[in-house]
Amino acid sequence: MKIDEILLTLTLEEKVSLLFGKGMWEIGGVSDIPEVIMVDGPHGVRKPIDINTTGIFEGNHPATAFPILGALASTWNVVLANQVGESLANECHYYDVHVLLAPGVNIKRTPLGGRNFEYFSEDPILAGEIASAYINGLQENGIGTSLKHYAANNSEFERMTISSEVDERTLREIYLPAFEIAVKKSNPWIVMTSYNKVNGYRSEENPLLMNHILRNEWNYNGVTISDWGAVTNRLKALQATLDIEMPGPSLSRQKQLVKQIRNGEVYEAVVNASVKRILELVVKAIQGKKMKKNAYDFDHHHLVAKQVAVEGTVLLKNDNDVLPIKKEKTKSVLVIGKHAINPRIGGKGGSAMVTPYRLDIPLEKIKEIAGDEITIHYVDGYNDYDPGENEMNQQEAIALAKQVDKVIIFAGIPEELEEAEGFDKEVTELPNSQINLILSVVQEQPDTAVVLSNGSPLTMTGWVDQVPALIEGWFAGQAGGSAIAEILFGLANPSGKLSETFPEHMDHNPAHLTYPGENGKVHYHEGIFVGYRYYDKKNIKPLFPFGHGLSYTEFSYESIQVNKEVINDNETVEVSVKVRNSGAMAGKEVVQLYVNDQDSSVIRPVKELKKFEKVNLHPGEAKQITFTLTKRDFAYYDVELQGWRVETGLFNLFVGGSVADIRLSTAIHVTSTEVKKRVFTPRSVTKEWLQDENGKKIIMDFFAQLSDELNMEDEYTLSFLRECTIPAVISLFGQKWMDNNNADAALDQLIDRVNHANKTVKVDF
Ligand code: BGC
Repeated sequence: MKIDEILLTLTLEEKVSLLFGKGMWEIGGVSDIPEVIMVDGPHGVRKPIDINTTGIFEGNHPATAFPILGALASTWNVVLANQVGESLANECHYYDVHVLLAPGVNIKRTPLGGRNFEYFSEDPILAGEIASAYINGLQENGIGTSLKHYAANNSEFERMTISSEVDERTLREIYLPAFEIAVKKSNPWIVMTSYNKVNGYRSEENPLLMNHILRNEWNYNGVTISDWGAVTNRLKALQATLDIEMPGPSLSRQKQLVKQIRNGEVYEAVVNASVKRILELVVKAIQGKKMKKNAYDFDHHHLVAKQVAVEGTVLLKNDNDVLPIKKEKTKSVLVIGKHAINPRIGGKGGSAMVTPYRLDIPLEKIKEIAGDEITIHYVDGYNDYDPGENEMNQQEAIALAKQVDKVIIFAGIPEELEEAEGFDKEVTELPNSQINLILSVVQEQPDTAVVLSNGSPLTMTGWVDQVPALIEGWFAGQAGGSAIAEILFGLANPSGKLSETFPEHMDHNPAHLTYPGENGKVHYHEGIFVGYRYYDKKNIKPLFPFGHGLSYTEFSYESIQVNKEVINDNETVEVSVKVRNSGAMAGKEVVQLYVNDQDSSVIRPVKELKKFEKVNLHPGEAKQITFTLTKRDFAYYDVELQGWRVETGLFNLFVGGSVADIRLSTAIHVTSTEVKKRVFTPRSVTKEWLQDENGKKIIMDFFAQLSDELNMEDEYTLSFLRECTIPAVISLFGQKWMDNNNADAALDQLIDRVNHANKTVKVDF
């Protein structure tokens, strides 16, 4: 039967029951309509053993635990993100799941955000592009996704009630584009709303976010679902086009909604539109199952997880070439730290927790690679958490450190300090026990590398300068152990680049003054200056900048070219960059392109990431990468226009290996085709009159009649007048003129003349 026909056969009660979950994880299942099963991601398929529970406390089926999304974003590799999606799709088929509740694309506003590890980046383009590739990987293989949490869900403090207070330009430029890119490039089957309010409206009831932007502007025709337990007013949410309240069935609410519909509080057409979308989802889910295979290669998924761990690992420092460990020069290595034998593979708890079906232990993998040629020693070195400094262990570690050729310390955030859903982090420093150990060991053995395990940026006060080699290993999933072992020995070349800035101190972070919020609101006063956009503009050197990551090889940026030097904003421009591996080992570089508006009438960041590409290069090999830039890449969001505007002028194009490592640049002139229609009012100031072709003629004539004092050739007079309204100019310089003239009538006439000449509508004030 066709969907429209099925719709006609359903009673109102049946239709309403489709607007609620069937259970904790199921939707549909009404009349003859099949059930659709959705379970969490994003780091693996989290199917609760008892499907009637959340699984968070009761346990989940084992699945491949991939590195956290922060690590996936640090690969900057869309092909790999697509493969992760494909592997997840296969495991969803294995577990008879139709939709994975992932990925989350919320922007990392502060390193304290409890769910940062589940999100991609502080940058919307990076988050959006990696998310799209991941979504496509799942959906191309018959499994749906649920893009979440829409929108401005950037911390966990008072997460179910707080209102994120964000101005419209900031929403459009920072907090929405990752959703927009994912919706437009990969059309997720579902969009999940967030727990928080946005500018006072609950997300699932928010007319601007839901009806206007998601549905009308982005043309999203898929299903929207609430976050679990978020809905407080089902009617308002329905009016905002929220299709399904999760979980369900919430029978008393169903009855109430039926009553409200019968009372005419909402048109049945609104219900029908939702039901239609839900039925379309059911059809997709059933069709998708045709792609189910008979055999499942979990070992292959493990390899994909390992590759993400390799490419997401960021070599932060490598002074004196401490790494990689060279077999020919090394007889013994000391490995220190519990993270080497008990690795943290993901966030501690919440919906993103995965039960790994297998686990690579770093120490074991290091020993495997070392073989008989290198002796590997191990000591714990520290207890998991302060104040448990382990004096004996520490002494043992220091004593051994002197005797070996190299030391590798595995440090990181202990489980007790939890990075999890439901609450924010309180610390960004390693525990003192680990810091003290690092400092003492490095003093005895300068040939030391530290491997970090954490879900979001750490500050590293007082120790980072002493450590010659430092690796950001993130929570690297179940295969992280083999990935790090291969990286340490140079069997794999790290190619990760930071997907978020590591600040030197937490009080440098742009959200510091307003985080976490008070009286039910968190004001995003930093506006568009999130992450590197802020550090760049304020000229604050972070500990490690956005996009940073070293390699065991070197890359040289040889040339940059544009195919046109002048375009208008309807045209595109191609930027070609030649990059060479000038070192001795094969490696991958992430080429990043940032745009800068040389002269803007509105405040803009110094650099905005617009394009990136990861290239694989053999020693000596060079490749040319071409990026295509369109209007949006030069534009800012103009609230008055309610759209994207490019200002005529020169734009710098910066290319490099991080936001702070720009190797090449060129410029292009872009002409705006948008004619800004200025409506003149008595509040319009002189500079606005002067900027307008018709306005300039009219006002210059008028000033000439008004007073001899107004010599517009004089710089100072001009500067003084620029910010004055015309009534102020009249009253300051036209007192004499007013003896014989009616100022109000003259002003009205001026405004009518200019608005008429510009064909704009007169506005009464
Ligand atoms: C989380 C979502 C998750 C859902 C189902 C919520 O608490 O915010 O990300 O998909 O639970 O587990």
